Amino acid sequence: MGQLVINGGKPLKGRVDLRGAKNLVTKAMVASLLADSTSVLKDVPHIRDVEVVSGLLSLHGVKVTHDEDGVMTMDTSAVKQARVVDIDAHAGSSRIPILFCGPLLHQLGEAFIPQLGGCQIGDRPIDFHLDVLRAFGATVEKQIDGIRLSAPNGLTGAKIELPYPSVGATEQVLLSATRAKGITELTGAAVEPEIIDLIAILQKMGAIISVDTDRVIRIEGVEKMQGYSHRALFDRNEAASWAAAALATGGDIFVGGAEQTKMTTFLNVFRKIGGAFEIEDDGIRFFHPGGELKPVVIETDVHPGFMTDWQQPLVVALSQAKGLSIVHETVYENRFGFTDALRKMGAEVQIYRECLGGHPCRFGRRNFYHSAVISGPSKLVGADIVVPDLRGGFSHVVAALAAEGKSTVSNIELISRGYEKFLDKLTALGADYQVREDVRA
Ligand code: EPU
Repeated sequence: MGQLVINGGKPLKGRVDLRGAKNLVTKAMVASLLADSTSVLKDVPHIRDVEVVSGLLSLHGVKVTHDEDGVMTMDTSAVKQARVVDIDAHAGSSRIPILFCGPLLHQLGEAFIPQLGGCQIGDRPIDFHLDVLRAFGATVEKQIDGIRLSAPNGLTGAKIELPYPSVGATEQVLLSATRAKGITELTGAAVEPEIIDLIAILQKMGAIISVDTDRVIRIEGVEKMQGYSHRALFDRNEAASWAAAALATGGDIFVGGAEQTKMTTFLNVFRKIGGAFEIEDDGIRFFHPGGELKPVVIETDVHPGFMTDWQQPLVVALSQAKGLSIVHETVYENRFGFTDALRKMGAEVQIYRECLGGHPCRFGRRNFYHSAVISGPSKLVGADIVVPDLRGGFSHVVAALAAEGKSTVSNIELISRGYEKFLDKLTALGADYQVREDVRA
């Protein structure tokens, strides 16, 4: 595993450019399976999660190309069943395989999902996904090495209500319902911009989908779909990460490709803390305008709330704000593991089981440390730390860049799951670091 040795205490200044959102691109790639012609997706980042999904598509007979400019083509004219051992060997680090089910059931009448990976930030069950697939008429059979699904007579539209507006389960419904027989009505749907962009892609492919008020999505099944051409939505999570990095290090970063309307909630919080931003046509400049940062109370939530993926680097910035900040994590039950390393570096962060600072959530009165209280400003000092997951890892690097002295950050390959050319971007921002072992980030 690779290590970064970071000499912190220098503001990050410069420009980074975003490509398409990891959390849209990977699903858009799966959507190509619904057609039997070629799809073209633009602005696809070169990140590990994309490599995994490309590999899985190839195993299923899809011809995938991905050039340096981020243009990906997927020719699905010869989709075939993949070998279970190959899927299993390949899928290790990703949760996307579960979304292959609907399209494969339509194309081949059966599908197999191996044990799923992804960041260790909670239990991450797949019960909603399996319930959705059963509602469409699939037979779900749990086996030792994974789950086998079949639908020899195809899938049929259904009335589905999600117990929680899960992003993945909503995508499962969309990818299964578009070619199912009849009408599907989904209530309790997630409506993240990445989902709306996926709906735009499906519409280009021939689907009939309406997004109504109050989290209701209606899908009228169609028999055939065709390939699409689409430029992926920018990565809002990456934009928020660099914005927080600018604030935490007292820096100034222009994030090319970031758009205001998809980030309103983040921008409001950024401003409340004392961060400044300037919206341009081609991106957003995020900077620390000088003076003291202010504490805030944040509750993570589904869209249009404050995204769970934004809180980790922002907690580092909050360690520099004067006073007590509270972050109540309501999406994942176990997403504060990364704060151990911040404490080691001198941040004052306490985590609690109680629902603090907001509404009681489904994790209250249970054994989940899902609220954090951050007391600042604290002087951060360099330390040896190990990246635990994608967003937590980014926040560790930000803390090391903000801290005085030398830090050694291990396991940084995990960051390349979601941040394209991460080390090049750090260089462009003037970060002082060396790579100690062979790292692909
Ligand atoms: N949940 C269930 N059962 C299910 C599915 C979800 O209980 O069958 C629960 C989860 O355990 C969680 C909540 O529902 O507590 C929300 O999970 P959701 O399904 O919305 O998350 P996801 O689709 O697995 C995507 C992103 C995450 C992002 C969340 C929330 C991808 C590949 N991942 O995950 O991104 O945090 O939505 O917006 O799209 C990341 O990028 O670092 C990341 C973790």
